[in-house]
Amino acid sequence: MARTIHAALLGAGTVGGGVYRLLERREGEMVNKLGAALEIKTILVRDAKKPRAGIPPEKLTERFEDILSDPEIDIVIELMGGIDPAKRYVEEALAAGKHVVTANKDLLAEHGFELAETAAARGLDLRFEASVAGGIPILTPLMTCLEGNDITEVMGIVNGTTNFILTRMTNEGTDFADALREAQALGFAEADPTADVEGLDAARKVAILASLAFHSHVTFSDVPTVGITKITAKDIGYAREMGYVIKLIGIARSTNGEIEVGVSPMMIPKRHPLASVNDSFNAVFVHGDALDDAMFQGRGAGAFPTASAVVGDLIAVSRDILAGCNGRVRLNPYRGLPLQSRGNAAHRFYLRLRVEDRPGILASVAGVLGNNDVGISQVIQKQRTEDDAEIVVITDRVQTRHMEDALTIFGSMSVIRDVSSVIRVYSEKP
Ligand SMILES: NC(=O)c1ccc[n+]([C@@H]2O[C@H](COP(=O)([O-])OP(=O)(O)OC[C@H]3O[C@@H](n4cnc5c(N)ncnc54)[C@H](OP(=O)(O)O)[C@@H]3O)[C@@H](O)[C@H]2O)c1
Repeated sequence: MARTIHAALLGAGTVGGGVYRLLERREGEMVNKLGAALEIKTILVRDAKKPRAGIPPEKLTERFEDILSDPEIDIVIELMGGIDPAKRYVEEALAAGKHVVTANKDLLAEHGFELAETAAARGLDLRFEASVAGGIPILTPLMTCLEGNDITEVMGIVNGTTNFILTRMTNEGTDFADALREAQALGFAEADPTADVEGLDAARKVAILASLAFHSHVTFSDVPTVGITKITAKDIGYAREMGYVIKLIGIARSTNGEIEVGVSPMMIPKRHPLASVNDSFNAVFVHGDALDDAMFQGRGAGAFPTASAVVGDLIAVSRDILAGCNGRVRLNPYRGLPLQSRGNAAHRFYLRLRVEDRPGILASVAGVLGNNDVGISQVIQKQRTEDDAEIVVITDRVQTRHMEDALTIFGSMSVIRDVSSVIRVYSEKP
């Protein structure tokens, strides 16, 4: 008779329900696959009286203590979300000698290292594949298959809501507000879309990706973040004219022993593989010294795609339990690389300026940029109204502080009516 490994779910919402149903689908083959049966013994929810399709009510509890004090439960799968009480429950589960699987990016991006240390000190597994890009396997590859590389760049589209909105704006010419309403109607965006459209959700994922890729301590608050709310159909049109697509990109690079991280709308050259990742799809692009380039693409959210990653982690933890070798793979910040100061970061920029339509304005704009060490790579000038024109510039790679100095001067020039947009342009790593 094969052994049964018992696990508990904290949460039976979108992902928790998906995990329960996916394990049911695989039930018949688990003993052959793993050498043991896997059973979800107990499920913590806020309201145990609420009917939940496919979940036996006798498994539900509203008391975490029922799980913590059950010696049969080896693995706690945290799918509640948020920091409190999820952090406390994960800490208590580890203290009680239980392995943890979680999909919680908020928790990992802020407290991943302390939780990983606690797990490692006790020889326990803490796995969190689903916390970044949902169903796409990217964290385990970074921690295992790609370990032979010096990874120097990880960048991606790690928020499906904003990718859906930008795809609609690009393909249909829809403005931001309408595309957001459509995303909400289709269930791709929350009623309160702030975490998605302001880039906060992506920033949490970038912190986790950078920590793993560069073996260094990067948390959510280290990631400068700009959302997509100011992107206009006009910018998307100019980007297209100049050979680019605008995407919300999370980026982590290591250059000269320093880490650069950020989330912002970015103009991506049409030939780059990320430029054709559309709708609610996610993708993560990785560069390693041995691997060269690779891209991981797929579904970044949803009950079954996310359950796919959670169940994969659950099977990996169970295998290690059966082999008696838990705690092998972990978040380990042994390199401890510092973060690059923001002003020293060098990027290319797209600028859209609304100016008075008079002779010599283009020369004045070019003069201010040149005097501040900002080289110009492409420029377009367009008439808007009788006395109003628009100048669009793509710069060379320049230090951010030089760009900011030039923008301050533009702000004080009466012939410049406004700086309508500043968007980062992707450039290859130097
Ligand atoms: N949804 C996705 O596609 C997706 C993708 C990747 C990662 N994730 C991550 O997965 C996690 C879960 O997301 P979700 O979309 O499944 O959330 P959800 O649908 O809101 O479900 C949350 C579940 O947790 C339970 N819960 C919440 N707070 C609780 C508390 N204090 N005590 C007991 N139970 C509590 C809820 O119980 P009740 O049902 O009784 O309210 C509910 O069953 C989050 O960390 C999220 O970031 C989600």
